[in-house]
Amino acid sequence: MGAFWFAIAPMGFVQNLLKPFSGMGVGHFSLIEYPIMKGAIAQKEPVAVDMEPGRKYYWCSCGLSSKQPWCDGSHKAANQFSPVAMTVEAPKKAWLCQCKQTNNAGYCDGSHKNL
Ligand code: FES
Repeated sequence: MGAFWFAIAPMGFVQNLLKPFSGMGVGHFSLIEYPIMKGAIAQKEPVAVDMEPGRKYYWCSCGLSSKQPWCDGSHKAANQFSPVAMTVEAPKKAWLCQCKQTNNAGYCDGSHKNL
């Protein structure tokens, strides 16, 4: 039954589900080692944005949007990505990822420095 759900679930869902277990294994063999699919590099630097509570923002994860860092619907052509919904509790200036290689979806985690 479990294998059935893995077979029909979208790959991104399975990757996120198994992420905590990646790297577990013996020697250089991992039990689970999926490359996490990342979007195209829109810019090699983050952008500062002012975010307000009470609004829902959609961060572009595919890298194809012409309204970076926000989604403009371009992911529909790639069909492998979905925008990431973001909210804040209080007004906040946030540094959002534009390289799409972050491991903290939406927010810059410094991954762009390795590009
Ligand atoms: S801009 Fe993507 S991690 Fe910094």
